[in-house]
Amino acid sequence: MAEQPKSVWRSISFWRRSAAWVTGFATILLIWLTFDTMSQITMGTDADLQKGVTKRVPAPTVINYHIDYKMSKKRGHEVPVIGKKEPFFGKEWSPKEAAALLHLGKLTSQAKNCMNCHTLLGNGAYYAPDLTKAWLDPAWSKNGSMMAMTGKSTREEAMAEFLQHPSKYPTHARMMPNLGITAEEAKGLVAFLKHMSSIDTNGFPRNFAKEEESTNAH
Ligand code: HEC
Repeated sequence: MAEQPKSVWRSISFWRRSAAWVTGFATILLIWLTFDTMSQITMGTDADLQKGVTKRVPAPTVINYHIDYKMSKKRGHEVPVIGKKEPFFGKEWSPKEAAALLHLGKLTSQAKNCMNCHTLLGNGAYYAPDLTKAWLDPAWSKNGSMMAMTGKSTREEAMAEFLQHPSKYPTHARMMPNLGITAEEAKGLVAFLKHMSSIDTNGFPRNFAKEEESTNAH
């Protein structure tokens, strides 16, 4: 009796070779993606900012610049736009000073556990407003409710005042408790919030502008 030709789908060596190729390809893809992600999330430098080079995560000295949030038709969501220089707490911060202030802000946000109530870059809770783009919240603008309530004349001073005495300025049904934040820590936190708002988060949180409108209406 003549032997039947064996189908390739039933050949063990075919499946062995396929498994080796798929594993090899996936490994190379993952290594490539790791390097691609690393380069995208690496913090930019002060020189990048001065040259107008856009980085997903700008250098700490981004606090010396005006930050806008504009709809990008191409990408289908809003993106941070770094504009002209503007004083932050009345001065321009050197790269060293800006890095130290941002560091203090990060440490304070961890020590006071802002994430227990708020969300930062996708991590945290939704008891209180998402803080990822809080710096850009219209409530803190020249004609905003928070600016008027705190009686301050700049966004950063109004925010720092609120952070030190939140229960003096209740704006929502829920109130933020006093967390014993010092003036220096408040400055750091505001720098942290401003820097975070300049990070390109692919439009997250979604519908930031619309959400703020509905919150302000309460
Ligand atoms: C126990 C819960 C709680 C913790 C912890 C907390 N907050 Fe809040 N926060 C709130 C609530 C509730 C509101 C909304 C009330 C309001 O606006 O008056 C709020 C509002 C805010 C706002 C205004 C939001 C906006 O969009 O303008 C900022 C900014 C803010 N918090 C920053 C912080 C920072 C920074 C920390 C950590 C140092 C922190 N919060 C810790 C509950 C909390």
